[in-house]
Amino acid sequence: MDFVGSHILSVDQFARADIEHIFRVADDMQPYADRDRVTRVLQGAILSNMFFEPSTRTRISFGSAFNMLGGEVRETTEVAASSLTKGESLYDTARVLSGYSDVIVMRHPEAGSVAEFAKASRVPVINAGDGPNEHPSQALLDLYTIRKEMESRGRAIDDLRIALVGDLRYGRAVHSLCKLLALFEHVHYKLVSPPELSLPADIVDSLKAAGHDVREHHELETGIDHVDILYVTRTQEERFPDQDEADRYRGLFRVNQAIYTKNCEPNTVIMHPLPRDSRAQAQELDDDLIENPNLAIFRQTDNGVLIRMALFALVLDVADQVHNHAQPVTWYTAKRFR
Ligand code: NCD
Repeated sequence: MDFVGSHILSVDQFARADIEHIFRVADDMQPYADRDRVTRVLQGAILSNMFFEPSTRTRISFGSAFNMLGGEVRETTEVAASSLTKGESLYDTARVLSGYSDVIVMRHPEAGSVAEFAKASRVPVINAGDGPNEHPSQALLDLYTIRKEMESRGRAIDDLRIALVGDLRYGRAVHSLCKLLALFEHVHYKLVSPPELSLPADIVDSLKAAGHDVREHHELETGIDHVDILYVTRTQEERFPDQDEADRYRGLFRVNQAIYTKNCEPNTVIMHPLPRDSRAQAQELDDDLIENPNLAIFRQTDNGVLIRMALFALVLDVADQVHNHAQPVTWYTAKRFR
């Protein structure tokens, strides 16, 4: 695809070559994210970071990624603080904001809303999550992490065996990741959820149609054996029709060190898009895994900055110029990535 000036709304836009292109640019961003160097390639550019749903890492990492390329960030973090509460349409909001910015990142609780917003925008729009639908930048950073973890084991993404555990119905991160993985060869998916929270049938059908091995499991123990990646997700309580229904699924599937040792292969990589639900009744990913070297959750969040820098660099057509605007870092950097 031609990235320049494009909206990034769904992983359906990407072919395998596009993903490899994004990953090459992300690799180039490492010295800037590591604070070995700074670049001013987006000096003067403005990002509007519009989050109409809760977010910590996605919002901050998009903002930091833009800052690390030298650009400025403007933010709205609540629907309540925006004119959407005064009945303003997405169309009008998009027309207005695109006059103030060079690129817009948007998260919104309704499926399809970011695409609708993008239609009226005069600048590129990146979907940071539209309700239960999609979360393309999360899927890219997850896949980038999978690639790095597998490479460190002498493997590639092709022939990957992955278990996706938890709320596969409302989890937009798994929707996007499943679709993105389907671009690779011979992926073995184990879909582990209560029957009511299964992956939507249209996504299951598309994975099977692409020739992948897809199996559904309703028991944790049998679902997580014989896999390379164990991808755990939170129950998306905010998307359930009522709290009683959400309560029914809390804590149903919990992965801890004992369950991992008993059921998983020794080198299985553990991932989670975060936030994990650390309340006593939930704990889908137990804190006792923190010393496990296969726990990749904070490598995922670090990789998120690289992927988001790459998306901005490609969409705003500066990927080849980043190093021309580089300087050494002058302040104390804690060498936090070593
Ligand atoms: C995910 C999301 O918002 O969809 N979080 C994130 O962006 N890292 C997953 C979640 O909220 O459970």
